Amino acid sequence: MPPDDLSMAAELRQRLAAQLAAGDWLRSPEWRAAVESVPRHEFLPRFYVELLDPGVTAWAPISPEIVQPAEWLAIAYSDQTLVTQFDERPLDWSSSEPVSNASPTSSSTLPSLVVRMLEDLDVHDGMTVLELGTGTGYSTALLCHRLGDRHVTSVETDADVARRARNALASCGYYPRLVTEDGRHGYVGPAPYDRTIATYGVRNVPPAWIAQTRPDGLIVTTLRGWMRSLGLVRLTASGDGRAEGPFIAADTSFMIARQQAAPSNMGVIPAPDEGKARETPYGPELLTMPDSGFVAQVVMPNARYFTMRDDDGTERTYVLDTENDSFAVLTAQAGGGWTVRQGGPHALWDDLEKAMALWHAAGSPPATGFGVTVTPDRQQVWLGSPDGPSWALPR
Ligand SMILES: C[S@@+](CC[C@H](N)C(=O)[O-])C[C@H]1O[C@@H](n2cnc3c(N)ncnc32)[C@H](O)[C@@H]1O
Repeated sequence: MPPDDLSMAAELRQRLAAQLAAGDWLRSPEWRAAVESVPRHEFLPRFYVELLDPGVTAWAPISPEIVQPAEWLAIAYSDQTLVTQFDERPLDWSSSEPVSNASPTSSSTLPSLVVRMLEDLDVHDGMTVLELGTGTGYSTALLCHRLGDRHVTSVETDADVARRARNALASCGYYPRLVTEDGRHGYVGPAPYDRTIATYGVRNVPPAWIAQTRPDGLIVTTLRGWMRSLGLVRLTASGDGRAEGPFIAADTSFMIARQQAAPSNMGVIPAPDEGKARETPYGPELLTMPDSGFVAQVVMPNARYFTMRDDDGTERTYVLDTENDSFAVLTAQAGGGWTVRQGGPHALWDDLEKAMALWHAAGSPPATGFGVTVTPDRQQVWLGSPDGPSWALPR
């Protein structure tokens, strides 16, 4: 890289660190030093940025071959998620054409979220960390800078992604323990770890992460469902297969663990005469509003929804449970209010209304008013305290 570009990259790093500190994402001098030192551009020789055009979602490729090196560097050091793989397939990096109709399957997460999670991990000198989701290797490099290579183990499920991360880390002089396998099994090798952190979302906490985290060690991960992300939890392991802790942020959204992606088939649309109808005060906004959407995701972990205009011209929202074919269909009433028609083994909307009543009684808190308890037998999301109302995470 020409010396001018190198000094530009160094300046952009300082600027990014200052921006992250001003936003209170970066709170400690040790992590600030890591952000100021680790060259994010080495992990992002090529990537895709989301285009903000209305209509179909598309991503444009960025590399020093496609745009001016200064532009590539400026984006590499901006606080945004940069995509490096779609649909689990290798990309044609020689193409300068945008990509659309594709789902990101690997990326370098936006730096503000990376550093807030690292700060939340509360590491101290000499600690060991298990990271799940190596991705580009950037967050792995930050961990290596902070704790030393010997104290960092990182697991990536995709062999091609893992190979690129290994090369990028080596080119920066970092040699952590890198493992290519399904991170749900963690990595027994140097366990127990002082800290465990996941940079992809999971539907439930893999028991291996708890078993491999030392008593009083911390696990920071995003829990998510098929409708939306639930948010970031910080759990304290207790050494007997249990872990417990609160949601510490609501707005963290990570791609789901590959092995837990939603089935492509959403289920069977119920016939117009199926199920039992009644009035309900709640419409589909319950599913889309941030806080009630969290409650809906907790109460209906296997459900997804869509709205469509039926043959009779009426717009209906279908909530379908992929696992057991329960359904709730919402239709607006002419004079205001809604009708819900439910069927299958679980009355989805009844369950949601009961949870809404408990949630309102507790003052309608955001995700940070909830927490999670994991035991060898069950995983529960609770409201307020571990003794409060609770709902099971999917197994
Ligand atoms: C958001 S990216 C990781 C970002 C990364 N930490 C960085 O700084 O570039 C999530 C990564 O998790 C990986 N992943 C998804 N499911 C996984 C699994 N079950 N085990 C290990 N890695 C997984 C994906 O392949 C992807 O590379």
